[in-house]
Amino acid sequence: MLIVQISDLHISSPGTDTYGHAPMAGNLQKCVDHINRFEPKPDVVLVSGDICDSGALDQTERAADILNQLTIPYFVIPGNHDLRETMFKTFGEVHCPAKDDRFLQYVIEGFDIRMIAMDSVIAGQSGGEICAERVKWLDEQLALEPAKPTILFLHHPPFKFSVPETDEDGFLGSDAFGDVVEKYSNIKRVMCGHIHLLTHAAWRGTIVSTAPSMGMQLDLDLSMSKPSGFVLVEPSYLVHHWTPQKNLITHTITVRDVDGPYPFATI
Ligand SMILES: [Fe+2]
Ligand SMILES: [Fe+2]
Repeated sequence: MLIVQISDLHISSPGTDTYGHAPMAGNLQKCVDHINRFEPKPDVVLVSGDICDSGALDQTERAADILNQLTIPYFVIPGNHDLRETMFKTFGEVHCPAKDDRFLQYVIEGFDIRMIAMDSVIAGQSGGEICAERVKWLDEQLALEPAKPTILFLHHPPFKFSVPETDEDGFLGSDAFGDVVEKYSNIKRVMCGHIHLLTHAAWRGTIVSTAPSMGMQLDLDLSMSKPSGFVLVEPSYLVHHWTPQKNLITHTITVRDVDGPYPFATI
């Protein structure tokens, strides 16, 4: 099974680049075209939030116009730059099968891996939260299939990554969320976005991964002594491969022109 993850699209209004610099709509188009050509064909695409840049309807619709060109089923969750109501209305139940627009959380069934989509947004704030209500919902969903390989995906990573986007913005409810995660040995990965970097870290008996942005990479400063900023890079996405040996292996695919392939020498 192949799960594609794209994150932090930050699509701006039509006719503009994000913050005047980042050609995010063009980057998303390149990625969508690339994913559609990927062999073997992926099973599902997960979009882990910050789909648009300021929650505006025209931005969300611009993102949807491009994502709707995917020939693979795709699902969305909100990030701190999105508005739940706008997202829910724009993407509809097909791509966001939440029961209501209060928390955009749901479970994707019917694949070799069960995927639990979580909503870590605090309306109007940059930081994340999994509140008591959302923890309870997660525990109930996990209890239904405690033996089936499962991944969680949510926008905010649930602990400090030594970047302002986690350490200063914060994450409420991390301990209670982690207590539930630790109860279940079938959680193969917690997939996040938000920090605009590819990272992997051990947490509560599983692994948390954060996906790169689609071209706006965090200007990494682990001393956190300068204002947070981004550098423009080629867009990339993740392919999570659930192998026949039941390992979840993650590849980073950068969309760019390359020279090759050339054969390796045989020895
Ligand atoms: Fe973002
Ligand atoms: Fe974010």
